[in-house]
Amino acid sequence: MDKLGMVNGIQISERYWQRASSLIPCGTQCLSKGPTQFIEGYAPKYLARGDGCIVTDVDENRFIDYGMGLGAVSLGYHYPTVNSAIINQLNEAITLTMMHPLEVEVSELIREVIPCAESVRFGKNGSDVTSAAVRLARAYTRRDIILCGGYHGWHDWYVITTDRNAGIPPVLEGLTKKFSYNDIDSLRMLINKYKGRVAAVIMEPVGVIHPQPNFLADVKQLAHDNGALLIFDEVLTGFRIALGGAQQYYGVTPDLATFGKAVANGMPLSILTGKAEIMSELENVFFSFTFGGEMLSLASAKATIEEMKTHRTIDHVNAMGKLLMEQGNAIIEKHGLSERISIQGPRAKTLFVYRESPDTLLIKSFLQQEMIRRGILFTSYNYVSYSHKEEQIQYTLDVLEDSLSELSKAMKQNKLVEKLEGKAVAPVFRKA
Ligand SMILES: Cc1ncc(COP(=O)(O)O)c(C=O)c1O
Repeated sequence: MDKLGMVNGIQISERYWQRASSLIPCGTQCLSKGPTQFIEGYAPKYLARGDGCIVTDVDENRFIDYGMGLGAVSLGYHYPTVNSAIINQLNEAITLTMMHPLEVEVSELIREVIPCAESVRFGKNGSDVTSAAVRLARAYTRRDIILCGGYHGWHDWYVITTDRNAGIPPVLEGLTKKFSYNDIDSLRMLINKYKGRVAAVIMEPVGVIHPQPNFLADVKQLAHDNGALLIFDEVLTGFRIALGGAQQYYGVTPDLATFGKAVANGMPLSILTGKAEIMSELENVFFSFTFGGEMLSLASAKATIEEMKTHRTIDHVNAMGKLLMEQGNAIIEKHGLSERISIQGPRAKTLFVYRESPDTLLIKSFLQQEMIRRGILFTSYNYVSYSHKEEQIQYTLDVLEDSLSELSKAMKQNKLVEKLEGKAVAPVFRKA
């Protein structure tokens, strides 16, 4: 492997940032990609390109990436068969005035691989389809309350439940309520409290912690006993945990499900799917937009799903995630840090989890700094792709070993602050 890590500094990144800061509110289009999630002053801010699992920043520093476009790049950057499919489609048309056969072909593929998929619609972002699912559930049940668990995107119905809810009319507050994962009583309590009003339970079937035995089946039963729909938000788990998503992996089929991220290897495509009888209510629900059916993303999804089927890419991703998690945790333990840090996952995502304490963000930042220094770009949410092979995982583990050694030295000397070469990262903007 050519040299990875901070070789050239971040001058060009910083120049772009100066231009952006008076022009682009928040400086970024996506909070998770913005500089608060990386050590400001040390980490690069702008990436220029990717190849496989390697990304190159605008200053020509190279890294093994674990952000992978926030989990969207499931096979790898610049992936040959997917790129060819996109280029072939580009030569035909990007978006047309009528429908395109790809809408039918990709819908058929989705129906083939996703257990609940009897009928299919597409969106562009995950938020499009979670919001469509909620509107559809309200229309189908003629009820108004939504119970949710997890993160579901930027639209009003969900963001009203978070701290960052400026601009959303408080009147919406009563319509979405949160329950706790793996806590069936917290769901039961809400269902009883809003008896006869709950349209749907929408949840991520799994985050980092696996569901307790029967939890997902119990949620489904409870929802159905009370006339509510079960929606699995598989924007993150879909095309990652298993080809048929978490619903296939855990054997619980929801009424509706939403997908996004990994399905099109980085192209913007999301999916709303589920039981035909419920989905047919879309005849009455408004869900329609200019770029619905845009074909580069559909061509990319078709090639991505075909690749996943042919090469069983998800098995590889999970094997590499397991290797990273198991060996990484052994290294953490060797350095006496397992009380503070652990690697969890690894199916949906691989997470470095830090025990909450006043210096948590400092520890997280210091470890990120040392990993970036040595050529590993990792963020709060990390994803292994099909392009991460054993060689890159081994390299990552070697870097982790050296970085943890620096971390434990700095902690013992009480020099974390002194040795941090930039601003500590901020908490992730969302808690899920
Ligand atoms: C589970 C889940 N649902 C919905 C969303 C929203 O997707 P998007 O950011 O593409 O709108 C996300 C995004 O991270 C997600 O993780």
